[in-house]
Amino acid sequence: MTDTTITTTVREHYRATGLTDRIKSALATITPEGQTLTVAQLAPLDQFHIRGILATEELAGAAGLKPSSRVLDLGCGIGGPARYLAASFGCMVTGVDLSPGFIDAATYLTARCALSDRVTFQAGDALHLPFEDSAFDAVFLQHVAMNIQDRAALYTEVHRILTPGGRFATYDLVLRNGDVVYPVPWARDASTSFLLSAGDTRTALERAGFQAVLWRDDTQTALDWFKATLAGPPPSGPGLNLGVVLGPDFLAMTANLARNIRDDRLGVLSAVLTRGM
Ligand SMILES: C[S@@+](CC[C@H](N)C(=O)[O-])C[C@H]1O[C@@H](n2cnc3c(N)ncnc32)[C@H](O)[C@@H]1O
Repeated sequence: MTDTTITTTVREHYRATGLTDRIKSALATITPEGQTLTVAQLAPLDQFHIRGILATEELAGAAGLKPSSRVLDLGCGIGGPARYLAASFGCMVTGVDLSPGFIDAATYLTARCALSDRVTFQAGDALHLPFEDSAFDAVFLQHVAMNIQDRAALYTEVHRILTPGGRFATYDLVLRNGDVVYPVPWARDASTSFLLSAGDTRTALERAGFQAVLWRDDTQTALDWFKATLAGPPPSGPGLNLGVVLGPDFLAMTANLARNIRDDRLGVLSAVLTRGM
């Protein structure tokens, strides 16, 4: 597949027709339209990665954000991590995502949280970002790289838009022993799933000019979280769960993801890197 075909297929996977209306209906069950929502209230709905808001909190803590930081959340989904960063650190955050439906929902939810003055969103492709060189002090990339075949181009683009000394915080699935069982939340089959081992990820990042300040295998933590989550009750708040966003087969995809990790086919990597001068 060419990069253009991959982009089209991935965008289709996250098409999210009618998403903002579905979210409005789900939210109406917890609070009337017009009432401000908190980042914590939305957390069961708007963090599309293993360990949800806990993982975003940890990664953000390691990234050293300040109120003056200009932050890009690349592959921002419906904006949960971006809102968390702005609300917790007081920084300005831009979210970019391939899916126009996600960007529409992200913009709506951010207005509902009264954060539109600090968090903005636009549709775009991580490989062709509409920003000048050195435009950001930090870039977040959570559970996105596995949809991107050309990692060298991705990491080079992140390097370009970061200021010298800026931080790149990434949290992703990595390949362990392979033979991944599909569908998983990011891909229906292997044609749009581009997993690298942790070692190959590190090589690609270093070639692009990054040095690791945090490099952590979070596979066991992810496994423990899956065990606790699958054994426990559904998320609190009527209607507030990721199935609202990702559709009825989301649970089956998530079960496959947990199985891939349990069977050592996939691992989980958290890393914070500095952009070389
Ligand atoms: C599993 S979701 C993670 C969303 C968000 N980072 C989070 O953790 O809540 C993956 C996201 O990556 C986006 N994505 C995939 N490939 C992309 C690309 N080439 N450029 C921009 N976004 C992309 C998808 O549209 C989707 O929203």
